[in-house]
Amino acid sequence: MSTRTARQPSAARDWRVSTAPGGLPLIGHALRMGRGPLEFLASLPAHGDLVELRLGTGRAYLPCHPDLVHEVLLNARVYDTGGPVKEKARPILGNGLITSDWADHRRQRRLVQPAFHSARLPTYAEVMQQECAVEARSWEAGRPFDVSTAMQALTARVTARALFSTEIADRAVAEIQRSLPVIVHGAYRRAMDPTGLLARLPLAANRRFDEALTRLHGLIHRIVEDYRTASTDRGDLLSALLSAEDPETGARLDDQEIHDQVMTLLLAGIETTASALAWSFHLLGQNPEAEAALHAELDEVLDRRPPAYADLPRLDRTQRVFTESLRLYPPAWLFTRTTVQATELAGHELRPGSDILISPYVLHHNPALFPDPESFDPDRWLPERAKDVTRGSYLPFGAGSRKCIGDVFGMTEATLALAAIASRWRLRPRPDTTVHPRPHMSLSSGPLLMVPEPR
Ligand code: HEM
Repeated sequence: MSTRTARQPSAARDWRVSTAPGGLPLIGHALRMGRGPLEFLASLPAHGDLVELRLGTGRAYLPCHPDLVHEVLLNARVYDTGGPVKEKARPILGNGLITSDWADHRRQRRLVQPAFHSARLPTYAEVMQQECAVEARSWEAGRPFDVSTAMQALTARVTARALFSTEIADRAVAEIQRSLPVIVHGAYRRAMDPTGLLARLPLAANRRFDEALTRLHGLIHRIVEDYRTASTDRGDLLSALLSAEDPETGARLDDQEIHDQVMTLLLAGIETTASALAWSFHLLGQNPEAEAALHAELDEVLDRRPPAYADLPRLDRTQRVFTESLRLYPPAWLFTRTTVQATELAGHELRPGSDILISPYVLHHNPALFPDPESFDPDRWLPERAKDVTRGSYLPFGAGSRKCIGDVFGMTEATLALAAIASRWRLRPRPDTTVHPRPHMSLSSGPLLMVPEPR
């Protein structure tokens, strides 16, 4: 052990540490990761608590035991964000919460956290309520539509209007809906390209990506400038960012930092919640009993009126449906950390610069942690059953100092959306549609045609 290696809590236990089977000369496990990352990663807990993978010339480690995952996530000073994925995200996100390193992240988080204070939630919930009602009114009985696209549009409107409450929001929504999918797709392609060459080729896709990024950056720049000039607190997320003051130093975020946080919130908040909502409707469509139980709760609590923030404590089953959808299809199915110093995990020595893969999907599909993991069972989250879930094994929002800052925002938005839609509509699956999880930037269902039937 090197003298700089910090001894970690996991050192005291016996762990199974192994290398993933099936590595090929030169490329290692890169092909299996490229072809079917979900199946491949989910097969690895059977081989150890910490499993080493070879991805081309590089190595990465997948902690499969919840205690090891937590050791990584709770030790952000040693396991920082980093590596090639972060470097590729920088031109898109700048230096915001997702891309900043440990020391700067602590400062940024102190400044952004107040924008998500529980006292601000009822205001955001009003926007959510209005947009969910608009969405639920917009469908035509019997006419199939793509639920996935509809949920993207809904969460884009909610996030944009929660960020910017002025009339600017409408223009912003149109631009976000136009640009964000292009940016998200391009960001994923770049993250997956080990050579870094793809971004430099004169391809039409690269041109569209650059144009979308320039448009979105331009829009955010103008909005931040407008808000700065007007200098009024509008009760929205952007006003909260502009007025945030570091309790330790009194410092504020400058315009570039605010710009980067806005971009980060758009990228982190829209796709994630939308994918999980689309999965919820897919799962309800496949599970008529769970759907009937949800409808019974909505009929009893809402009695056909639209849901409001005050209804949330009584919408237990609705929340359990979403919680279980997040277990089966966690939007953030894979994220990474990189060691900034030599350390030890599961008694195994890690050099500085080692890449660690954190996969909520792997934890959530492990039969040792969740019995019958492939079945959609919202009642596994009833308090009397949830208490038996192994501590730390449910991780849709991550953990530690980088835990999702929008977790309550996202849960509120999704619960209100599920309630608003399922109290008016039953979404029927189309028999000719097969759905496969697409592990891209988030774990999406891809196009999801369903037929709305009035209830
Ligand atoms: C169901 C919806 C959501 C899921 C599953 C989700 C998941 C996650 C996860 C797993 C992380 C941690 C990533 C890591 O540790 O590297 C994260 C971070 C983050 N999320 Fe979410 N998220 C959701 C919704 C939202 C929403 C609605 C917003 C904002 C409006 C948001 C903003 C962020 C930000 C800014 C971070 C970075 C936090 C930090 O590093 O301090 N997320 N999210």
